Amino acid sequence: MEAAGVTHLGAELRSSFAPNRALIIGGGLGGLFTALQLAPHPVTVITGGRLGETGSSPLAQGGIAAAMGETDTVEAHTADTIRAGDGLVDEAMAGMLAREAPARIVELLDLGVPFDKDLEGRLLLSREAAHSARRVVKVEGDMAGAVIMQALTRAVQAADHITVIEDAWAEDLVVHKGRVVGAAVSRRLEDGSRRREVHIAVAVVMATGGAGGLYEVTTNPAGATGSGLAMAAKAGAVIADAEFVQFHPTAILTDADPAPLATEALRGEGAKLIDATGRRFMSEIHQDAELAPRDIVARAVFDKAHAGGAFLDCREAIGARFEEEFPRVYNYCQEAGIDPVRQPIPVAPAAHYHMGGVLTDANGRTTLNGLWACGEVASTGVHGANRLASNSLLEAVVFGARIARDVGLHMDTMVVHVSRKKLRKVLERKAGKAADPDRVRELRRVMSRHAGVVRDGAGLCRAMRAALALGNSKSGPQLTMMATTALMISVAAWMRHESRGGHYRSDYPKADEALRQRSMLTLKQARKIAAAATGSANPDCEESR
Ligand code: SIN
Repeated sequence: MEAAGVTHLGAELRSSFAPNRALIIGGGLGGLFTALQLAPHPVTVITGGRLGETGSSPLAQGGIAAAMGETDTVEAHTADTIRAGDGLVDEAMAGMLAREAPARIVELLDLGVPFDKDLEGRLLLSREAAHSARRVVKVEGDMAGAVIMQALTRAVQAADHITVIEDAWAEDLVVHKGRVVGAAVSRRLEDGSRRREVHIAVAVVMATGGAGGLYEVTTNPAGATGSGLAMAAKAGAVIADAEFVQFHPTAILTDADPAPLATEALRGEGAKLIDATGRRFMSEIHQDAELAPRDIVARAVFDKAHAGGAFLDCREAIGARFEEEFPRVYNYCQEAGIDPVRQPIPVAPAAHYHMGGVLTDANGRTTLNGLWACGEVASTGVHGANRLASNSLLEAVVFGARIARDVGLHMDTMVVHVSRKKLRKVLERKAGKAADPDRVRELRRVMSRHAGVVRDGAGLCRAMRAALALGNSKSGPQLTMMATTALMISVAAWMRHESRGGHYRSDYPKADEALRQRSMLTLKQARKIAAAATGSANPDCEESR
């Protein structure tokens, strides 16, 4: 036995555990912030790569939204969040998010995050789409995610209560007598081999990030394939708003995977979107032009990209300031052979953020006892159908703090017991092999084509059918998890007969007031719906046969 609550087949299996320990699956901002806030309670963090380098958080460019400007208010931040979410935001949750934002920014400053300030020491704030004020705290221009993660990594390394397990990924949750009591983890050992371990904990926090990797073009890093959502769904958790996938309008058009992002802050500084003829197109589509809600800009860019090309023109608005103020985007452009000071940047929409996820309450509790969810994998209700820019890192820290408080309050009184038989059963299952790349490519292709920026019933049937088939295959847990999350997205999208926020159906192009409610699905329900839809003579599916 290496640490309280960890066991593997080479160890003596004890018949029960009662480790006073929390387990956090995921080492992005949500996972690390929650771990730090849990002090002094012992916590293990499982991270897929090296500490601080995994997940979407280090790639974030924009920053964190918080009403900290002199003329800004919590009410305005709440109202913008609700408006962007296109009718589906949980207003109480959005109010709480905006209210608690400034305090979390102060905590991040205390942890050593060097948010940009002016000469008088006031935070420098940038503007992004659908915000009514300059409200986004940033670091070194567009380096927010990387610098925040560096500060948190240092704090985690110095924290005695945190054990970090690198190069490890969870393959399944362990559920005993209706309670989530831990996770089966595939861990890389020093000699390069992998070992399956069970980590038992009184509280399990899922912080595995998003699902952009289910699409061909995504800004998400490798590994963001919806594994946490799939594990929670398999264990019986309710998944909310799965159909709402946000496509960022301005990924730089290169062959790189993930696709490099050209931050929305560029448009906040006045950069314009133009078509292949050099004509600006957003001003005729929405009154806020380039700063219209992200889904509207993404669809317009999608249309132009399919009709000759779409470009982000930064020449006039940013020009020679580009390298100093947007160093990350500047480097991406250089790597792609583009000079953004002199040339418009070719752009296309890319899967960027999953508004849907594991349903939680205000303290991050899921519908399963023993399981909390934090960050992109969660669906707290603050994003509705379309997330307001720079509310995602914010959600991770606001809910991370709430989860830590909730878990911490009960940590000393929570006890879990797991039978030796149960442990052996979980451990004897083989550690999963990596997903077959051809099947992964196939799934990404199907999701992009049929469950992407523009959807319709027939295409969503194809997506459901592919997800069912791939999920049934014997390709191991990674592909099965991807197919599970793809199924949840495509079933929820197939069921929503309207267009709203990030979900656009060409066969139902308008919002329907009668459908203005969040979707809630279990995996069992989704499988049943998909089986009926793809197996019967449903006219919606006929075309795709
Ligand atoms: C961006 O910098 O454009 C992305 C910010 C976000 O997704 O919140």
